[in-house]
Amino acid sequence: MLHKTLKLFPRDFLWGASTSAYQVEGANLEDGKGPSCQDVKEVPRDTSDLTVCVDHYHRYKEDIALMAEMGFKVYRFSISWSRIIPGGTGEVNLKGIEFYSNLIDECLKHNIEPLVTMFHFDMPAALDKRGSWSNRESVDWFLNFAKVMFENFGDRVKSWLTINEQNILTLVGPVIGTLTIPEGTENELKEIYQQNHHMLVAQAKAMALCHEMLPDAKIGPAPNISLVYPESCKPEDVIAAQNFNAIRNWLYLDMAVYGIYNNIVWSWLEEHDAAPDFAEGDAEALKSGHPDFIGFNYYNTATCKSDDEDAAKTAETGAFSQQENKGEAGLFKGVKNPHLPATEFGWEIDPTGFRATIREMYSRYHLPMIVTENGLGAYDKLTEDGRVHDSYRIEYLRKHIEQIRLAVSDGCEMMGYCPWSAIDLISTHEGIVKRYGFIYVDRDEFDLKTLDRYRKDSFYWYKKVIASNGTDLTDN
Ligand code: BG6
Repeated sequence: MLHKTLKLFPRDFLWGASTSAYQVEGANLEDGKGPSCQDVKEVPRDTSDLTVCVDHYHRYKEDIALMAEMGFKVYRFSISWSRIIPGGTGEVNLKGIEFYSNLIDECLKHNIEPLVTMFHFDMPAALDKRGSWSNRESVDWFLNFAKVMFENFGDRVKSWLTINEQNILTLVGPVIGTLTIPEGTENELKEIYQQNHHMLVAQAKAMALCHEMLPDAKIGPAPNISLVYPESCKPEDVIAAQNFNAIRNWLYLDMAVYGIYNNIVWSWLEEHDAAPDFAEGDAEALKSGHPDFIGFNYYNTATCKSDDEDAAKTAETGAFSQQENKGEAGLFKGVKNPHLPATEFGWEIDPTGFRATIREMYSRYHLPMIVTENGLGAYDKLTEDGRVHDSYRIEYLRKHIEQIRLAVSDGCEMMGYCPWSAIDLISTHEGIVKRYGFIYVDRDEFDLKTLDRYRKDSFYWYKKVIASNGTDLTDN
């Protein structure tokens, strides 16, 4: 749709950016923090471990000051479960509470609203040993963790996100280093979707608890949503795209918003004897969540074709990364989209698909939305003059912000934009060399160097974007 005039971004639009605890903090076993599954996993080859990351734990004041300099209205970060409850259940680590309390206060001092992700890929290792999300008790573990957070930070944190990218945990857990399959499991699909069910119940209960304990606060989910295109207008390809959309996207939002299982996914699971078991009270709990908004991560769209002809022969299933699915026998086959360029790390770039995704989500759910991740991973270079000329990142972000404005003009309710990431951090499986931040951190994969912070060109550009409330997207 071509608009005669574009609507402005809402006056209180939340400009900011995101990080996650295990990727940015470091100090991974300091001040009483227990290990998380990320600390005990096998570190992906040729990439840094997570002991120091970019040392945000010790340098958060400097980092928040830089975010304030850019004009951030919001900072999305996650709370490490094993920093505040080292064993996952039981004793609370006061040093951990103190750290997040100080971080929140520091944000508020600079008029930056803290947007807290409750769980971002880092199950306490102690709970991993007890089966992680596979254990039905995980629902209560998570709820207890939620209660501790609401009690300690709820006076100052008014916006919460439940589980980061639950769909990615379910679809490609091994890529992120999070999937625990108990020994002797016969039906792996059933096991994975049972874990997913526990997360869905935990999420719904946490949203209800938030509303009960903190009536002024708002809470929502944070899945990774990529609209799926059919490779062609062949009707079978359209069905394949609906299948992939259902298992990748709508399962998570239909449940978070309406408390119901998506019918396409449910039928597929039933056919594989993999439909999750409901415990008493689950059906009611799932309907009790009622998110106030939807947070979602968007990197690109996906494209697929029909797999009907050779369902039994699908050679490849699973995924290369969060954004690159190979396929699922009988449902779809992932293909490359010939119309889209890709990043240095092979992720397709699709700003127009961003608008399409937002439109689709809004017409399905009619809730306000905040973008909780979007960004470009690249090999940035610090030049002699202490600058990072990341014009490619500016270009990427500009094109995506333009599409949000178009979506706003289409009538979609957008609350804010938090690209990934505020500052360089360790990627999920490709190390620090895959940089996303507005702030460059002086370290290499294995050489910690000075850890000094540098403002990238995108830093100055984003500052201007925020100051103009998204109307000035021109180069510096
Ligand atoms: C999302 C995650 O999947 O994508 C982040 O929520 C992650 O934790 C981001 O870092 C970028 O992915 P990657 O694999 O490049 O780090």
